[in-house]
Amino acid sequence: MITEQQIQTFEQDGAVTIDSPLTGRQLAAASDLTDRLLPLGEPKDGERIRYRVGKNNLLDPPFVEIIEHPFFEQVTNRLLQADHAVVIGTALRKTHPQPGAKFEVGEHTDITYSLADMASVPRRMDISFFLWLSDVDGKCAPLIYRPGSHRLIAQHMGDRPRYVHGPFDPDDYRNVPDIHTLPVGSAAHREHWPDLEYAKPVPCIARAGQVTVINQAAIHSASTNRGMTSRKSLIIGFRPHNIVMGERKAGLEIRRQYLRDLKNQLSPNRRHLVPGDL
Ligand SMILES: [Fe+2]
Repeated sequence: MITEQQIQTFEQDGAVTIDSPLTGRQLAAASDLTDRLLPLGEPKDGERIRYRVGKNNLLDPPFVEIIEHPFFEQVTNRLLQADHAVVIGTALRKTHPQPGAKFEVGEHTDITYSLADMASVPRRMDISFFLWLSDVDGKCAPLIYRPGSHRLIAQHMGDRPRYVHGPFDPDDYRNVPDIHTLPVGSAAHREHWPDLEYAKPVPCIARAGQVTVINQAAIHSASTNRGMTSRKSLIIGFRPHNIVMGERKAGLEIRRQYLRDLKNQLSPNRRHLVPGDL
């Protein structure tokens, strides 16, 4: 499932790519549905064609069959030293080929963790699985990331982490009395990062059916598809049950409703993947 070496790589680098036990039938069903759901984004008045298209909050049976597969739950439990992992969100992304385009990235972090968050048992953190539904080489829009950048930032912050970047109003959040108390999704771009010697970005190369697990506190980015084939990924977020994290109130009710709907779609013996107290 996941080796000790791979766990260490994840902790040190912030990402690791591993094999999954998903079958060819499961992958083909999810890949075909992705193609039907995510055609090129048509340009609307004055807009450009969108090559990178997506859909969040997935409930279609081929995706639910994958989301509830015990593999993701078991890997989360190992990586986050948890005994009960829960789903926090899902998304689908397809990046269509854009041959000849300039290679562009938009590096960011989605959340910030302190060293204490990443050392607590269970870990006070979320993880994201990128299940590749197509092969990903260096040209077709690989996910890129800077190995170890999550730890560099955490070390720099020490025991007074800054979790929110940009303007802050406590009324906008749940469980976030100030910007130093609990991790909360808050994107940070280059101007927010401390001025440190970060590693160069590396691409996550994978075969269809492999999974890249990433800590989104590591600097990462989507990229342009200069290849000939589409890049397709199913993204599943997990968290240890009973870990308290901050959350933006905007979007909270949509997320709760999605998780209630997802719970209804799960097999009866897999419903523990959505907690009862949303
Ligand atoms: Fe991100």
